[in-house]
Amino acid sequence: MTQEIIKIFDTTLRDGEQSPGASMNIEEKIQIASQLERLGVDIIEAGFAAASPGDFEAISKIAQKIKCSTVCSLARAIESDVKVAGEAIRAAKFKRIHTFIATSPIHMKYKLKMKPDEVIKRAVEAVGYARTFVDDVEFSLEDAGRSEIGFMKEITDAVINAGASTINLPDTVGYRLPFEIGAMIKTMSQYIKGRAVISVHNHNDLGLAVANSLESIMNGARQVECTINGLGERAGNAALEEIVMTLKTRHDVFGGFMTNINTKEIYPTSRLIANITSIEPQPNKAIVGKNAFAHESGIHQDGMLKNKQTYEIISPSDIGLDLEDTLILGKHSGRAAFKDKLAKLGFHIEDEKLNPIFAKFKELADKKKDIYDDDLRALVTSQISCVEPQFELIGLQLMDCSNGVPSAAITIKHNDNQITDAGIGDGTIDAIFKTIDRISGYSGRLMDYKVTSVSKGKDALANVTVKVVFNDNEPAIIGHGLSIDTMIASARAYIGALNSYLSMEGMLKSRTNDFGDGI
Ligand code: KIV
Ligand code: ZN
Repeated sequence: MTQEIIKIFDTTLRDGEQSPGASMNIEEKIQIASQLERLGVDIIEAGFAAASPGDFEAISKIAQKIKCSTVCSLARAIESDVKVAGEAIRAAKFKRIHTFIATSPIHMKYKLKMKPDEVIKRAVEAVGYARTFVDDVEFSLEDAGRSEIGFMKEITDAVINAGASTINLPDTVGYRLPFEIGAMIKTMSQYIKGRAVISVHNHNDLGLAVANSLESIMNGARQVECTINGLGERAGNAALEEIVMTLKTRHDVFGGFMTNINTKEIYPTSRLIANITSIEPQPNKAIVGKNAFAHESGIHQDGMLKNKQTYEIISPSDIGLDLEDTLILGKHSGRAAFKDKLAKLGFHIEDEKLNPIFAKFKELADKKKDIYDDDLRALVTSQISCVEPQFELIGLQLMDCSNGVPSAAITIKHNDNQITDAGIGDGTIDAIFKTIDRISGYSGRLMDYKVTSVSKGKDALANVTVKVVFNDNEPAIIGHGLSIDTMIASARAYIGALNSYLSMEGMLKSRTNDFGDGI
């Protein structure tokens, strides 16, 4: 049977980054893009180049590095956005500009304050201009799910004539039901008649993003936009892993379609994203949740022992999950074995960057008996930062005060000086953070604090995430800290947030646009 390819357009680095708290630094984005390429996604939406100098730089670096997938930048239908997008992806082997404008009556009237004719004009100009940079232009009818079909046909004709080769029909607010999306895609597919590839981009506000994407494929969509772990604005996007594994597992229904995804890279990719963003998939999340392959009830366990297919429709190894998560390396392991193991986990670290990570591994191996894959993932992720640290934790001592007031003595390195100070607080964490404030001279307001354990055992690594506001006029900064000792991990996380804040200060000030501006 001949099979049609469903193109997988991954937008983890763009729509996924719009998840609250999911911002990533440039080095992290490059690691993610490389892993997405390994996963086999057809198109990587690397960001929204006009949003900030940091986004521009990340997209440019990804464009230089990625050789197999198409690298894409989002751009509003504004000349300056399209220009910046075109410049950001210039070095890419395969490149695409994705430009969009809203087409629903509510968006045109209230957000854009534009008449439908003006919207068409703006769309045509943007697509035409984008074609001066690249041959591959995608146009999105934002809020297509609530747009009028007659207007959708009109603007689609206009942008195809202007040179768009992919027409994306997003359910921007996640409002539609599968049968409604199916009917919309069928109508548009019959209308477009192969003049452009039809793409879908479904949000998950009613929990229907994956179902809507699958129904779209059944009705003519040949590109699906999605994210790893379903990250994305508000309730997120359609989860890549769920779409791909449904197409594969329900071959009886979707046999006419295939994707270029190497499903064995799904689990490593999911872990990389979870570690970098500190957003864990819910435990019962399909395919990649912690419990997705856990059989709790005795009856189920009995069935599994007799024949796995009694309760398992997907084999964990199909998504690259090794349930044994075997003990891997110890303190006697050499650099080459370490590098090789990291490569197997999806981290291809250049030689000069490997040394500090290897040193941290040796430090950990001295303290922790068993080191698991998840420990290594967390360790590497905590080290891949492009932020030059201004402050570094050297020592932390919690003091035993006779009056019961929690207090901490901390030593921090700053500009080759070591500064030691002590402070008290309402609790131990408060004492640590206040002492760091005293030493650094910056005062942070803690908005969120989360601690999770990496892998298993009493000596499991603590992974602390903090969200701190250092300046009320600027967004909260995320910091991560890793250690066997939760208090040290907390101090590292807080100092990490401070270092990120200091490195981003200049960038935030020069931030030109924000995605929320509309058009
Ligand atoms: O949800 C949406 O409509 C989008 C577009 C920019 C494609 O993210
Ligand atoms: Zn979206």
